Amino acid sequence: MTTEPRLRIAMQKSGRLSEDTQKLLKRCGLKLNVSDRRLLAHVSNMPIDIMRVRSSDIPGLVMDGVCDLGIVGDNTLEEAALERQLMEQSHSYVKTTGLNFGGCRLSIAMPEEFNYQGIKSLDGLRFATTYPQLLNRFARNNGINVEFCLLKGSVEVAPRVGLSDGICDLVSTGATLEANGLKEVEVIFKSTASLIQNPAVLEPSKQKILDTLLPRIQGVMKAKE
Ligand code: PRP
Ligand code: MG
Repeated sequence: MTTEPRLRIAMQKSGRLSEDTQKLLKRCGLKLNVSDRRLLAHVSNMPIDIMRVRSSDIPGLVMDGVCDLGIVGDNTLEEAALERQLMEQSHSYVKTTGLNFGGCRLSIAMPEEFNYQGIKSLDGLRFATTYPQLLNRFARNNGINVEFCLLKGSVEVAPRVGLSDGICDLVSTGATLEANGLKEVEVIFKSTASLIQNPAVLEPSKQKILDTLLPRIQGVMKAKE
């Protein structure tokens, strides 16, 4: 018995992109049974499987060819690509299409009372961040040295507890910065969600599935404009 190949797409299990991603797939006509515990969800009306994982794992799963495609924020993607390049791991991907959700920016923010006079005032300071590679690149490009401490969440708390001088984290509405007495001083990366794929040519039967899916995704995005 030969089993028909199924296109495997990685998406965020829970978090800021998961709801919009699920909505997009549903609007594309995919019937999927997403229960909290089922991490590989079978699409019942198309040969597609949805793998539900942590967002930071999505770039690697696509770059290593475990998943054919992934839906991920550009911020997570770029950070992973830089890190994997440094570690000499596979770090290439193709951006199949940008998506019109998940808009946010990666910014440097300082305590309200900090006397900010341009990028040079950040020289030698310590930042809490989930994005050390993007922060490093920004520092290098601007001729400053920064130190960082890695936090995977609740980054905005760091300056107040003496862990860092400032932070480098995602900003959407700015409410979290405000609630924690921080002000945004530099935007270092702008991000939306993207559909990415492994750079290898898809086998023809999988390419056929993508050729059906992609116009639907583009149609859904057009309808939302
Ligand atoms: C994200 C992000 C910021 C916040 C930005 O955190 O890391 O902290 O949202 O959104 P805002 O500008 O609209 O306030 P999230 O709430 O996902 O929690 P986490 O950082 O603890 O994972
Ligand atoms: Mg946060």
